[in-house]
Amino acid sequence: MSEVTPRSVLAELASGTKPRRDTYEGWQRYRTTRGQFLAAPILTFTQWRAMSSSERSLYDLHRTATHVNLPLQETPMSLRVGRLVNRRLRNNALKQNVATRPGVMVSGWGYQGKTETVCEVAAAFEDAWLELHHYLNPDAVDGTNDLHAPVVYVQTPVTAKPKSTCQAVLDFFGASTRGMSLPRLMQQVAQSLSDHGVKALILDDINRLRMHRADDQDTLDLIRAFMSMNVTLILVGVDIPGSGLLRDARWDARQRQWVMDPSEHARVHGLEATQTERRFDLVELDRFRTSTPEEATSFQAHLRGIEAHLRLLKAKPGMLTGGAMPEYLMRRTSGVVGVLERLIEDGAQEAMDSGKELLDENLLDEIVISLDDPSRDPSTGEIPPIPGRGTSSRTAIVNKGARSRRKNTVFDDRGPAAAGTAG
Ligand SMILES: Nc1ncnc2c1ncn2[C@@H]1O[C@H](COP(=O)(O)OP(=O)(O)O)[C@@H](O)[C@H]1O
Ligand SMILES: [Mg+2]
Repeated sequence: MSEVTPRSVLAELASGTKPRRDTYEGWQRYRTTRGQFLAAPILTFTQWRAMSSSERSLYDLHRTATHVNLPLQETPMSLRVGRLVNRRLRNNALKQNVATRPGVMVSGWGYQGKTETVCEVAAAFEDAWLELHHYLNPDAVDGTNDLHAPVVYVQTPVTAKPKSTCQAVLDFFGASTRGMSLPRLMQQVAQSLSDHGVKALILDDINRLRMHRADDQDTLDLIRAFMSMNVTLILVGVDIPGSGLLRDARWDARQRQWVMDPSEHARVHGLEATQTERRFDLVELDRFRTSTPEEATSFQAHLRGIEAHLRLLKAKPGMLTGGAMPEYLMRRTSGVVGVLERLIEDGAQEAMDSGKELLDENLLDEIVISLDDPSRDPSTGEIPPIPGRGTSSRTAIVNKGARSRRKNTVFDDRGPAAAGTAG
């Protein structure tokens, strides 16, 4: 193994690759180290110039690492989603009545922060749960051979089917499942979730489930079965209302929840089908908008937060928030949080490389936003459209707005018809 030095650690951080969360070890590492990154100290241009060349190159590496590891900031959109997910997790975990644990669906287009928001809430829930658990019954966990895993994070495989989805859940625990039948896999999943004290099962990128074939019923039954396993099921994905996942569900206007009736089959994937209906909250994680003064203020606050973490040596206060800059950034990114971060990240690198050491429209105009990411499936909308460089992005924004408006109809109390139009 290569030697671990400050430089090697920084080089890894500066690469911007996010560690995996879809294994027990990966998730624990994420949970226990999140938010711990220390930004590079703030130096003046004169102080920087006075450094030796090796000090300076280490400091520059630290600046790059700082720019690609901008902290998560609370936004009005993430707060709304976070509150709901947290409420469900907490209430369900404390509930004795096992029959009625509502799940949560978090929907939104790519790069809007779904994964980061949900993981942050789930990790904070796990921190609190472990503390409470330890406080109530410190011996309960130590005595068993099984890992205690209150949260399981799973990325749905591309073109997933019920079998591969179950395998992905078991992979979190490193369990070998080759050659098992679906009923056997389901039993394994139920057993694992129970053995490891799982309270929350997150299925991210659920839009990858194939929902347009004859055996879709299998998939919907799979969701029902997961919900019978005494966990809070959190489904996260692009355009859930349009995905077919709500096909079997009806809208309960009074409770403002989606309801899935029990399966018509007596046994589902080898498990006893329960006769209880399944309930879901559906919440949309939106992008930034600036059509009202409050929205514009929130966007400004977010930009101010980013600015505070940039380490550019000739930056002036208000670099991102002053003049026409917020409007420019909105035009370049459509207010999509992940696209904005990427533009700033790449712009900051260019500002360092060129010696300009600040961000302005001229510099950012030269940055082509690239969202190539092998872990994303472009065919399912996980990568959003980017407004063209130099061209008016109005079309892209208007189109996205129109789509969002249509999607948002699921929040109106229009009953089952909404499910029909969304599917
Ligand atoms: N609340 C936030 N504050 C700052 N940056 C964020 C926030 N949410 C997301 N991001 C950035 O956006 C990027 C994309 O977010 P992600 O959660 O992967 O989006 P999605 O799952 O919706 O595609 C992340 O890598 C992160 O850098
Ligand atoms: Mg995601």
